[in-house]
Amino acid sequence: MFGETGYNPTAFNQPTYMALGIYWATACLCIVVAVLALNIMGFFSGTNKFDVDGRTVIITGGSQGMGRGLAKILSQKGANIVIVARTQSKLDDALKYITAAAKNPGKQRFLSISADVTIAEENIRIIDEVTTWNHGSPPDVVWANAGQAHPGLFVDTPLEISRSQMDMNYWAAAYLSHATLRSWLRPSPEKLSKPRHLIMTSSVACYVGLAGYTPYAPAKAAMRSLADTLRSELNMYNGARRNKSAAADSSPAAEVKVHVVVPGTIKSPGLVNEDKVKHEVTKILEEGDIAQTEDEVAAAAIRRLETGGYMITTQLLGDAMRAGGLGGSPRNNWLIDTIFGWIIHFAWLFIGPDMERKVWAYGKEKGAVYRPESS
Ligand SMILES: NC(=O)c1ccc[n+]([C@@H]2O[C@H](COP(=O)([O-])OP(=O)(O)OC[C@H]3O[C@@H](n4cnc5c(N)ncnc54)[C@H](OP(=O)(O)O)[C@@H]3O)[C@@H](O)[C@H]2O)c1
Ligand SMILES: *[C@@H]1O[C@H](CO)[C@@H](O)[C@H](O)[C@H]1NC(C)=O
Repeated sequence: MFGETGYNPTAFNQPTYMALGIYWATACLCIVVAVLALNIMGFFSGTNKFDVDGRTVIITGGSQGMGRGLAKILSQKGANIVIVARTQSKLDDALKYITAAAKNPGKQRFLSISADVTIAEENIRIIDEVTTWNHGSPPDVVWANAGQAHPGLFVDTPLEISRSQMDMNYWAAAYLSHATLRSWLRPSPEKLSKPRHLIMTSSVACYVGLAGYTPYAPAKAAMRSLADTLRSELNMYNGARRNKSAAADSSPAAEVKVHVVVPGTIKSPGLVNEDKVKHEVTKILEEGDIAQTEDEVAAAAIRRLETGGYMITTQLLGDAMRAGGLGGSPRNNWLIDTIFGWIIHFAWLFIGPDMERKVWAYGKEKGAVYRPESS
């Protein structure tokens, strides 16, 4: 194309201005669409699709951070709550805090279970113990929220850490889902009118590759894929329940809904630990990210569950990342998600190269090499 006339750098100026125009038009459109999306979501959300009043909820990682925020709000909404974590003393404090928030003090019930959710059998024990505690009925909502990030560069991070990150951020949710669904999908002549909910807490790291998250992000991406694939599979059991002429015990007691909640940065004890080992280049890429408190992230997630969302982001940056990274994942609102997704493709033309340049420039300035003695 440039061969005949020679390379002319000024020829690039015109498209650059055009591109900048598109960039600002994109930014404005993003805001309009976001406002519209919230409006429409609120507008159509007449009925509460996540009613927990009088129902039983399990939240892993419920002793601090987002999990504790979720437990508090669900307690305010009238749920019986079971929190799971390893450290009993933290569970005791959190249980007091959650109990104090109850909508119907004295009527709601609260329980803590100390367990390590990276062990498959412990997840079976959790479901069994809660079913017994709940007078023989399985829990109505199970939220696989426990997780922990150990960021670091791939070659600097011992493989055992990357593997244990997969145990914590993927396998723990897979084990709990397996134990839960084996309990929920049994044939049952009993038919519940409200759906049961299986929820997993992923991360916006599942959408975007950021230098320094190789031990963590792949696990959260795998979790998202598990939720997408389970959602497809659960249609079969949910469909079976709609056949009125079939035998009563040829389908499960309740419809099952799966959700994946995708938060951005949360100001939690987990984040404090994460930042201790986080590479400087990761901090540069995350600069300016909005951090939510445990109450903010929990309120946003629950509000959007109540409108019936499947893949739930908790703030605007997450909304944009979700729209741009949907692939074959089910849409919450096909119109908004399609328009928003299209706009985000344009935004990535600028954000993507900018992030690549930052990492490249960091290496150029500070040097980058793998030193075996330092890991
Ligand atoms: N913080 C962020 O910026 C951020 C961003 C996106 C997504 N997320 C995700 O959001 C979720 C909540 O994060 P957070 O930062 O709010 O929580 P956090 O402060 O890190 O707390 C983690 C909770 O999980 C429990 N836990 C950890 N390992 C466990 C294990 N092996 N078995 C059972 N319980 C375990 C902890 O209690 P014990 O230590 O006593 O077991 C604690 O209750 C996680 O899935 C996280 O990956 C966080
Ligand atoms: C309902 O179930 C019965 C018995 O399994 C089956 O014969 C019938 O085809 C099903 N109906 C529909 C509409 O699929």
